[in-house]
Amino acid sequence: MRSPIDWLLGKFSADVGMDLGTASTLVAVRGAGIVLDEPSVVAVKRGTNRVLMNGTAVGESAKKMLGKAPGSIMAIRPMKNGVIADFEITEAMIRYFLRKAHGGSWIRPRVLMSIPSGITAVEKRAVINCAERAGARRVFLIKEPLAAGLGVNLPINEPRGHLIVDVGGGTTEVAVLSLASLVQKTSIRVAGDEMDQAIIQFVRKKYNLLIGEQTAERIKIEIGSAYPIAQEYEMEIRGRDLKDHLPRRTNITSTEIREALQPPVRAIIQAIRTTLEQTPPEISADLVDTGITLTGGGVLLRGIDEIIAEEIKLPVSVAADPRTAVARGINEILDQLDLLHEILETAESE
Ligand SMILES: Nc1ncnc2c1ncn2[C@@H]1O[C@H](COP(=O)(O)OP(=O)(O)OP(=O)(O)O)[C@@H](O)[C@H]1O
Ligand SMILES: [Mg+2]
Repeated sequence: MRSPIDWLLGKFSADVGMDLGTASTLVAVRGAGIVLDEPSVVAVKRGTNRVLMNGTAVGESAKKMLGKAPGSIMAIRPMKNGVIADFEITEAMIRYFLRKAHGGSWIRPRVLMSIPSGITAVEKRAVINCAERAGARRVFLIKEPLAAGLGVNLPINEPRGHLIVDVGGGTTEVAVLSLASLVQKTSIRVAGDEMDQAIIQFVRKKYNLLIGEQTAERIKIEIGSAYPIAQEYEMEIRGRDLKDHLPRRTNITSTEIREALQPPVRAIIQAIRTTLEQTPPEISADLVDTGITLTGGGVLLRGIDEIIAEEIKLPVSVAADPRTAVARGINEILDQLDLLHEILETAESE
């Protein structure tokens, strides 16, 4: 039950929703929609966990420093594989984003956070503690695939199966939804970051060239694909030679990058297969019509829908604006937080 005090506080402070992702964090404020969308990156003083005290500390400007910061500064991504890898820095990041989104209100907001479906009890506890220490008055949790389903307007309340595949930076979440719950789910720690790593390994092996994560991500976005494309591309890349350690450039083609991306793409397809194999037959029957909906930034990889459709033989659609699907779902629930808080998870419901 909501206490009278909580009700009163709610009158003066907005509820906030947060999709705390491995690659980016999106924040929604009740009544205002999504107000913030920034990389999950924090700049700290090396050797300490002290966040830099200027405008470049968190988000977009901190991301520019990744791999390029001078000796005294370090840019850190405190989330890994969808969960908190560095507690203190994540706390600082959440505090910064809450302040930026929630403004100067002196009342701590209630915060609705999305979590991967495969999260452990310990990891879940860490999310709650972290958000509370960063300024949340109360923390509610929703599983990412449910938020994604709501965000792309699937009728997830109906007794009919829908398959959502969210490919983020750190995790791919595959989930069959029906009656507003997860009938079946698979969560693997292979997504966009793993694709970047696959490109780094490929370039290293084939060209003896060491490239950074930022470069690998740029290659993936510019010429990456999962399925043959009408016109193949070529791109000049730069890095450090593994033999003489000097800066060097070379050209790379989209065909090569597709080959490099095979292992992570295969792993995603295998996760979909595993989930479908375990889905009850009546719901499998629904999926023949409802098909697969793709969300998350990772599904912006060219041809990922085509390769999945070919392999799984179900209709596949990429959601409009897939990166913001989870945050849009969170935003919808914020409007009904008072009605829905009973079904959301909280610290007490563990
Ligand atoms: N055009 C594109 N082509 C391929 N990949 C892309 C493209 N745009 C973004 N990405 C990738 O999408 C990933 C980020 O997606 P998203 O923002 O959904 O992740 P996240 O929610 O932060 O991560 P997670 O849900 O795993 O915690 C990154 O790996 C990024 O490189
Ligand atoms: Mg995500």
